[in-house]
Amino acid sequence: MKSLSALICGLAGLASASFLPGLPTVPFEKEDQSFSLRSLRHIVVDSRYASSVDETGETLIPPTLSEFASVFAKDLKTTFGIAADTKLGAGPAAPDSIFLTLDPEGEYLDATGKQSGEAYTLTTGASGITITGSSPLGVWWGSRTVLQQALLAQETGGLPAVPCGKGLDIPGWSTRGMMLDAGRHYYPPDFVVELCAYMSFFKQNTLHMHLSDNLWHNPNYTTQQSNDLYARFRLYSDAPAVAGLNRFANESYDRTTWDAMQTQCAARGVVLYPEIEMPGHALAFTHWKPELALAGDASLLNISHPETIPAMQTVWDEFLPWFHTKSVSIGADEYTGPEADYNTFVNAMDGYIGTVSEKYIRIWGTFPPIYNATWTNVYQNVTVQHWANWADKPYPDYIKNNYTMINSADDFYVVNKWGRIPDSYPAKVNITRTFIGSPGGGFWRPYIFDQSNSSNNPLANSPFVLGSIVPLWNDYGANASVYSEAYYAWRDGIPALGDKQWGGNVTEAAFADIFAALQPHAPGQNLERKIPSKTDTIIDYKVTGGRWPFGGLRDASPNHYQPSTDCAIVRDGKRAAVAVRDGCSVTSPLDSKGRNYTLALSLRVDALVDPTNATLLTGRDSALLLTPNVTLVSGGNYYRSNTTVPQGAWFDLSIIGRGNHTYLAVDNGPEQEFLTSMGINGVYHYWAEIAIEAPLKTLGGSGSKWSGLFGGLSLKATA
Ligand SMILES: *[C@@H]1O[C@H](CO)[C@@H](O)[C@H](O)[C@H]1NC(C)=O
Ligand SMILES: *[C@@H]1O[C@H](CO)[C@@H](O)[C@H](O)[C@H]1NC(C)=O
Ligand SMILES: *[C@@H]1O[C@H](CO)[C@@H](O)[C@H](O)[C@H]1NC(C)=O
Ligand SMILES: *[C@@H]1O[C@H](CO)[C@@H](O)[C@H](O)[C@H]1NC(C)=O
Ligand SMILES: *[C@@H]1O[C@H](CO)[C@@H](O)[C@H](O)[C@H]1NC(C)=O
Ligand SMILES: *[C@@H]1O[C@H](CO)[C@@H](O)[C@H](O)[C@H]1NC(C)=O
Ligand SMILES: *[C@@H]1O[C@H](CO)[C@@H](O)[C@H](O)[C@H]1NC(C)=O
Ligand SMILES: *[C@@H]1O[C@H](CO)[C@@H](O)[C@H](O)[C@H]1NC(C)=O
Ligand SMILES: *[C@@H]1O[C@H](CO)[C@@H](O)[C@H](O)[C@H]1NC(C)=O
Ligand SMILES: *[C@@H]1O[C@H](CO)[C@@H](O)[C@H](O)[C@H]1NC(C)=O
Ligand SMILES: *[C@@H]1O[C@H](CO)[C@@H](O)[C@H](O)[C@H]1NC(C)=O
Ligand SMILES: *[C@@H]1O[C@H](CO)[C@@H](O)[C@H](O)[C@H]1NC(C)=O
Repeated sequence: MKSLSALICGLAGLASASFLPGLPTVPFEKEDQSFSLRSLRHIVVDSRYASSVDETGETLIPPTLSEFASVFAKDLKTTFGIAADTKLGAGPAAPDSIFLTLDPEGEYLDATGKQSGEAYTLTTGASGITITGSSPLGVWWGSRTVLQQALLAQETGGLPAVPCGKGLDIPGWSTRGMMLDAGRHYYPPDFVVELCAYMSFFKQNTLHMHLSDNLWHNPNYTTQQSNDLYARFRLYSDAPAVAGLNRFANESYDRTTWDAMQTQCAARGVVLYPEIEMPGHALAFTHWKPELALAGDASLLNISHPETIPAMQTVWDEFLPWFHTKSVSIGADEYTGPEADYNTFVNAMDGYIGTVSEKYIRIWGTFPPIYNATWTNVYQNVTVQHWANWADKPYPDYIKNNYTMINSADDFYVVNKWGRIPDSYPAKVNITRTFIGSPGGGFWRPYIFDQSNSSNNPLANSPFVLGSIVPLWNDYGANASVYSEAYYAWRDGIPALGDKQWGGNVTEAAFADIFAALQPHAPGQNLERKIPSKTDTIIDYKVTGGRWPFGGLRDASPNHYQPSTDCAIVRDGKRAAVAVRDGCSVTSPLDSKGRNYTLALSLRVDALVDPTNATLLTGRDSALLLTPNVTLVSGGNYYRSNTTVPQGAWFDLSIIGRGNHTYLAVDNGPEQEFLTSMGINGVYHYWAEIAIEAPLKTLGGSGSKWSGLFGGLSLKATA
């Protein structure tokens, strides 16, 4: 049966020129009534364009219209439980379909006057919904609008429905996204792919991956300290030409992995954009070839060494074929060696990469051009990513001299855990600044490089502004944060920036409510490690004595997340317990729980094979160990508390994830916090909070190196 609203959609109709709320907002002439997705039966892909792809974007592996349609169908299912089939057709299957088509010949100009492959027209009428894209990517963004509008309608107590009417939506800028410092911190592939999904819901299209870097190289370091300093090259190849470059295969992306990451991000319209940083931040290269280091600072390459440029060309030779993008970044910031050498180096890389791969390059704003009779500047086909107003003045230095730019102004920077130190970059994106334009007023936009001095900004329609990429850095290294803390730093920032990078008009006053309605439903990810539960108690594992089916281990919560075990059930006095020994284990159907949680365990540890290395519990994101202090391990880093537990006696151990802190308590005693000891530039240590997920998959098991009794476990969603 068709819903009433679907039938009368478009009949009444006081059209009003305005825009729909959303992140981003959507220009739309709204009519009375709306089309309920509950009546949806089909997603019809225009058979003329089923295998069309967008060729205007940065990616070289754009999905087809049909491919985008099937991801959209999956999202309708997971978000609303709506099962629409996907089929080819010549037009809408009225009145219960969403028709996906293209207008490949149409002119769709963005804010900078360039043809956009990301535009779409959304039409909702009596015959359902039609999304007409300038390319399949435009249709994809239109499908995000459908999901967002249906969520907003549902939030106000109605059906998931899209307002009747029509709107043409074109993003202002073609590069919209974030940059993850994966050089000084490893991020696993599934985390990166889930981040792409989160960004995509808010119409961002670029995740720039900073793939090599080192911690700050203190000039006081001895050679040994310099050799030991954290430096990583995140791609792993076993090609002989780069043998020894990457000695950390377990924290790297090999070609198969990188390919899968690129493909999965592309499936949601997000390009995984690669950066290999040189000639500064290059300690990983000088660890590989020490002779290439600049005297006095081993983190910089000595460009005048005859082997430096050839060695870096070898690196690009190996990795360029991995990258499905039209350009790549060579980083090139904070080089303090000779400026003329720097320009020579950047031009050598630009020329080489252009010649062998036809790809352009990007660099960070470092040495603005100088115009005199003898000086050679960086080639004008290099795109400059502006980051600090002290490093360059975007408009006079670059744009007036015909360089294209990306706005990565440090107004939106996050440095994980640096926010604890006064006058530094904050712990999360300062979204207030997205609502502030240049001194003239309005909202922030990608062409606004400087919110306090308009002379650094070009006109709003400058064709030299490609867009905005907002970075997160890990200057304080790999142990300063767990993977998900990068997400939390961006959780509000991605939708707020996504709106303004697109050209949207969400006000500061409206943001919080729209965010609250949309953010929990971003499809394709569970970055917060939520677990569906009927009550505050998610699991309540109890051990009971007696023969099956009366005895055993079961989940007493209403969710029935039933565990399984190959361990024996025994008695300890009156108490029934699972005997954890000989490699047997208890396994739950869950793997990890994010903030907030209270995990409570009842245990008796009888013997430790190695008192410094016993694993009680493991999960997707973390493990709980006795070392012998109670310790959480996440991302390969150990976070040790000062608390120990008794041996040979029962105890209760609670692990508590509260906001961005993690605590423990033994026998309901006072809480102790798990902290991380961050090394600051080789000068001092700083204890900071750390927010670790609860491990939920396996208790005991081979390699756990302890034996004892397990008396039960509960997990609550509050702390
Ligand atoms: C290097 O050592 C000197 C002498 O101890 C000290 O004054 C200076 O602050 C150190 N520099 C850095 C960057 O740590
Ligand atoms: C960029 O310009 C340099 C110098 O003219 C050239 O060698 C290189 O091939 C160009 N890059 C591309 C992708 O055309
Ligand atoms: C051009 O500028 C560079 C960098 O400031 C300087 O080293 C060089 O001497 C200048 N050349 C002339 C001819 O002024
Ligand atoms: C920039 O391009 C304009 C128009 O093509 C040209 O007149 C101008 O000389 C160029 N400026 C530089 C520094 O190349
Ligand atoms: C942790 O949360 C507190 C309170 O909300 C906040 O002030 C602090 O900046 C946060 N720290 C990080 C690293 O997010
Ligand atoms: C965020 O930005 C606003 C506007 O620039 C500023 O007033 C505020 O202090 C910033 N907040 C933080 C936490 O830095
Ligand atoms: C934002 O507002 C401007 C001015 O009203 C309008 O032209 C534009 O279409 C709006 N953009 C979006 C994405 O809502
Ligand atoms: C990778 O292996 C090294 C050496 O065994 C270890 O220190 C590191 O923690 C591991 N990394 C991860 C993410 O597990
Ligand atoms: C453990 O105790 C030491 C010494 O009192 C203290 O410096 C350190 O911060 C404590 N560690 C934790 C995780 O609380
Ligand atoms: C373990 O805890 C004790 C306090 O009970 C503390 O003195 C010791 O430093 C801790 N060990 C480690 C490795 O953190
Ligand atoms: C987690 O606890 C913190 C601190 O009590 C609170 O501010 C936050 O809102 C809680 N988060 C959730 C998701 O309940
Ligand atoms: C701890 O034990 C596990 C499992 O046997 C092993 O993989 C790991 O290397 C050990 N770690 C240390 C620090 O001994």
